[in-house]
Amino acid sequence: MEELKTATGPLHARLEATPFFPALAAGQLALESYVGQLRALAVIHSVLENALTGCTDERVTAVWQPDMRKFPLLQEDLRYFEPRAVADLKEAAEIALQTAEHLRLRAIGQPLALLGSMYVLEGSTLGAAVVRPLVARAFLLAGDDGLAYLRPYGDHAPARWSAFRERMNALTLGAEDRARIVAEAVDFFGRLETLFIALHPFSPDSRTFLVTSINPEAGRHAVTADPREMEAAIRAGDRCWARYPYFEQRYGERGRRFTRSDGAWQATLVHYEPAQISQQVKWLGRVLAGRGMPSVLLEEHLEMVSDELTAAIPAGKAGYEKLRAAAAELRAARRRRLNDDHLSALATEFDRMAGPEWSTRLPHTGKLLGCAVCDEAEGSPLAVKSLHSWLTDPARFPPNWITAVDATIARAREVAGLHPTRVSE
Ligand code: HEM
Repeated sequence: MEELKTATGPLHARLEATPFFPALAAGQLALESYVGQLRALAVIHSVLENALTGCTDERVTAVWQPDMRKFPLLQEDLRYFEPRAVADLKEAAEIALQTAEHLRLRAIGQPLALLGSMYVLEGSTLGAAVVRPLVARAFLLAGDDGLAYLRPYGDHAPARWSAFRERMNALTLGAEDRARIVAEAVDFFGRLETLFIALHPFSPDSRTFLVTSINPEAGRHAVTADPREMEAAIRAGDRCWARYPYFEQRYGERGRRFTRSDGAWQATLVHYEPAQISQQVKWLGRVLAGRGMPSVLLEEHLEMVSDELTAAIPAGKAGYEKLRAAAAELRAARRRRLNDDHLSALATEFDRMAGPEWSTRLPHTGKLLGCAVCDEAEGSPLAVKSLHSWLTDPARFPPNWITAVDATIARAREVAGLHPTRVSE
């Protein structure tokens, strides 16, 4: 730890001297810069913390503890700022994505080096005590609002830092390993410096809307640049989320973020020809179906996005209707296997077998199962399996529910004229 401190001390000084921090102290930092910082750190923390959680290098796992995760705190703060619809800063977001990519590569090739980045971010919890009142004052934040990341360990930051130091110093490391960790910490400080330089001051041309602002884990894909469309897409995502509690119960908050970012991507499709939209939507439908989300969810989501976009910008109706047309294609493919009467009969019978308590907790399950059977028949080989594995976990569901799941799949296959027992094969 002494080696790390000595090697990075000058870089810490340089980082603190970037114009971002004096502007913050003077109450002159733009909200875009501050929120941009939270978004960039969310991208970086999510990748680093996933890499650390999956790391098998014993020296890394001896230091990393799951309660050091700060991604959830960043999410909390970002949720607080969400209603203010703050624009993204292109360059800063790009630096965050590059840093995330670098960390992913390190996790594969040199996992030990991750200790260097972990050191830098963990050390920043000490500076957080200084930065926190400045942020509260600059953005008129009351109480703990929007400040979770800057107080990760409550009053225990110094004690947590001592414990972290001890775990680091207890490692047995050769000179080469130590040099690797130090080099990584130096590199990481350098990346943060370029990030903070990009965050403030920024040119008006840097302002944009990027997918990482609504979903730090979504990578680089396109989203609409129109704030009205972005808000409409978010509303549609939340509606779809509310209609199917399955999303929340299976995928948690992460799923909600993906529902929103997918909607913001869908809004960009309206600029393409119908044939291209259809191809993209079918591709996404297959990807999602294979991950436990039958394509009926995408179908309904597309319709909700189309409705919300039209309500927000009526003049764009003709373009937004293209999303409805893509949804209709998905529906037609599904109906070739099971019509709406079949599906509603499957849903009713499922609820009867599962009983009122469970069918209220997880409504539409019979319908989702029927639709997964259709997806499988339409070329998504994992559609049933990926849903079945979660819905039949005995740790989660009672025996009669599991029986109802198996019976519904068998019945759906039978009605659709398919082999009835493929799941258990
Ligand atoms: C993103 C920005 C920052 C990062 C990544 C960062 C990183 C670090 C690191 C790695 C340490 C541990 C040094 C050691 O090994 O003992 C540290 C300590 C500290 N930092 Fe920062 N820091 C940041 C910003 C700031 C700012 C803006 C301030 C104050 C204005 C600050 C004040 C401190 C203080 C007071 C310590 C404790 C020094 C000690 O007790 O020895 N930091 N920081």
